[in-house]
Amino acid sequence: MFELNEEQQSIRDLARDFARNEIMPGAPERDRTHAFPAELISQLGEMGFMGMFVPEKYGGTELDVFSYVLALEEICYADAGVGVVMSVQNSLVEWPILAFGTEEQKQRYLPGLCSGEVIGCYALTEPEAGSDAGAQRTKAVRTDDGDYVLNGSKIWITNAPQAGTIVTYANMEPEARHKGVCAFILQSDMPGYSVGKVEDKMGINASSTSELIFEDLRVPKANLLHGERQGFMVAMATLDGGRVGVAAQALGIAQRALDLAVAYANERYTFGKPIAKHQAIQWKIADMRTRIEAARLLIWRAAWMKDQGQRASGHCSMAKLYASETANFCAYEAVQIHGGYGYSREYEVERLYRDARITTLYEGTSEIQRLVIAKDTLG
Ligand code: CAA
Repeated sequence: MFELNEEQQSIRDLARDFARNEIMPGAPERDRTHAFPAELISQLGEMGFMGMFVPEKYGGTELDVFSYVLALEEICYADAGVGVVMSVQNSLVEWPILAFGTEEQKQRYLPGLCSGEVIGCYALTEPEAGSDAGAQRTKAVRTDDGDYVLNGSKIWITNAPQAGTIVTYANMEPEARHKGVCAFILQSDMPGYSVGKVEDKMGINASSTSELIFEDLRVPKANLLHGERQGFMVAMATLDGGRVGVAAQALGIAQRALDLAVAYANERYTFGKPIAKHQAIQWKIADMRTRIEAARLLIWRAAWMKDQGQRASGHCSMAKLYASETANFCAYEAVQIHGGYGYSREYEVERLYRDARITTLYEGTSEIQRLVIAKDTLG
């Protein structure tokens, strides 16, 4: 638990080399231009990072959650906008298809996602159903021949503008709240499916986020994911794994902020010595490192529990809560240590400060993580 074995080290090193040599150099430009990293995603697919939980027979690398969080931390150290594309694909799209899908659904959808040829998205959030995910208003009506017709819209959907495969949710009986929710696998070429407004975000600009609109969208019954009215459980179980992924994303940002702060503190002089020699700076560095180490242990523990097949909702939420708050803390302190330079777009810490901000919001706000942790604790 406290040391990586050889296989884990080699996965981390592979991800680290690729992240630092191939992803990091283009990060400032992607941040400026909001360009989707299509080439990097297909390279990540070739390396096996886009299908980490999926068995080889469906095109994946069949690794574990532990390997996934190790790789994701490294990718997000270089560019969290690239990392979130990888994280949505693995934990929010492939995982529920693998866990709840039929054999036909797995054969049909997983290979394209694992290679990175097809981008996936997870469409749960609606204008009136963000933190209150059970308040799904998108309507699903079963037709006489057993297919479904969907009407409604989703917002804040990461990867939606590029997505070819969509895991989404709709309600057969909105008055029954979560008890009417069904999960579906959609394809972007289905008539009645369209991409709405693309958001102009604060950060993680290599990924794009938009609205999705479903207008009389006919979904074959073969695309129902898991049982009718079983969708809310699919959504929640999926988010457990998603949350430990966001925690790893936040950890990558936090570690990069610390490394940049240390380098700057050693080279910047004030009052005749490097600022690293001032206690005010040393204390910040000590706090950043301590919180990063604690976050990493929470993440490793939650990942390990998932790999043992244990329900880890509380642990995934603790990891996400602590790592995301740590990313924001570290990015804030890294900007502070850089002084005025940290406020300039020329310095990477400015991007980290913006990229960190999303991690306490998506896949459940910090407030929602506290609800999940409290429920797990109190019963
Ligand atoms: N695993 C399996 N089942 C679960 C579960 C889990 N982790 N959590 C809850 N359930 C089940 C419960 O057992 C319960 O089942 P029964 O009906 O059989 O009793 C059912 O789900 C309802 O549970 P709750 O009563 O706890 O539901 P709730 O309405 O009180 O909501 C909540 C709980 C935790 C607040 C939930 O609504 C939630 O997680 N909200 C936040 C949503 C969220 O994270 N959205 C992020 C969107 S995705 C995203 O950001 C992706 C992206 O683009 C990057």
